[in-house]
Amino acid sequence: MTAPHRTTAILALAAALWLAPLLAARQTVALKDLMPKGMVVGVALNQRQSDGVDTAAVDLVTKQFTQISPENLLKFQPIHPADDRYAFEAQDRYVQFGVDRKMQVIGHTLVWHSQTPAWVFQGKDGGAVDRDTLLARMRDHILTVVGRYKGRIHGWDVVNEAIDEDGSLRKTPWLNAIGEDYIAKAFAIAREADPGAELYYNDFNLEKPAKRAGVIRLVKSLQSQGIRIDGIGNQAHWRLETPSIAEIEATLLDLRSTGLEVMYTELDINLLPQAARGADPSAANPYVTGLPDDMQQALARRYADIFGVFLKHRDAVSRVTFWGLSDADSWLNRGRTNHPLLWDRQRQPKPAFDAVVKVLQGAR
Ligand code: G3I
Repeated sequence: MTAPHRTTAILALAAALWLAPLLAARQTVALKDLMPKGMVVGVALNQRQSDGVDTAAVDLVTKQFTQISPENLLKFQPIHPADDRYAFEAQDRYVQFGVDRKMQVIGHTLVWHSQTPAWVFQGKDGGAVDRDTLLARMRDHILTVVGRYKGRIHGWDVVNEAIDEDGSLRKTPWLNAIGEDYIAKAFAIAREADPGAELYYNDFNLEKPAKRAGVIRLVKSLQSQGIRIDGIGNQAHWRLETPSIAEIEATLLDLRSTGLEVMYTELDINLLPQAARGADPSAANPYVTGLPDDMQQALARRYADIFGVFLKHRDAVSRVTFWGLSDADSWLNRGRTNHPLLWDRQRQPKPAFDAVVKVLQGAR
């Protein structure tokens, strides 16, 4: 081997020896060990993960998190597909996944206008369902599902996305058939089913002042009726630059003013440009072959800034949940290639993971 080659080989070996402990240390750092007291960090699981089929994901989730949410399993459609039929097999495995690991298990979600089977809103005569029938169906669903996991599910997203962008009640089949009191009824039935479970309202775009004001009006209305509500879930489906850190902080402070827990329940950062409506999804898909380093660093800075706000107001924030484990698992792919989370498609930590770790370590 010539001298220059020998030098190169020695330098490469030195670099590898120097990097190895750093890489090893990186793998051993767990978010759950760095979170401030009173703030859990969690992740939404898909069925392959809660069934234990995706073993690499199971290992990573077990190491990194102390809380889990069900991406889809506990929604109306999967668990109650027909009026006379419930499906609990995979749902039981999800709950058991968390119980076995002594994790905080969250239920998502009891009353939502999406992923609710058509039969729920159909009247017996095939027309639109009436108030009493839909209330009875809501009651049966909540008592059955919440009752089944009583004492094992820590908290429920009782109602999801009931407020429109202007702050008014979203015109959902629930509102149309039952009326405005469907939300209070849902919370009251959930409390009846499991008095020990925390009860949450969950929504997105809360950084928009009009929508946030509508959510706060709703929460205060429930509180004034003596209805139990413990927390507000801010889904936090954000982008690289929007909402601004100032808007995130202002929203956090507004939500905290209700006196309820503030939770970030579905955190991810969408890196893809808006696809024009009706356009081919493969358009506006710039990162198919991977995320360039400048974007990795921008994502890292974004997550660091976001966690900086959560830590600044750690007394108000009880939970941060990522909506998916790795980029491969994200709902944000949807026919394109997105990179919204802390682990890449090979389940390797991205610079964004290191950035979050650094912020958490700096706050200890
Ligand atoms: O289970 C069926 C499967 O049987 C069928 O073969 C397949 C193809 O049609 O669809 C499967 O259902 C899909 C389901 O995810 C489970 O994978 C639905 O089509 C698909 O629409 C559904 O998407 C979910 C979406 O909610 C539905 O609105 C996403 O995974 C989930 O991440 C997303 O999560 C929501 C939160 O619950 C509420 N906040 C917004 C967030 C993002 O939309």
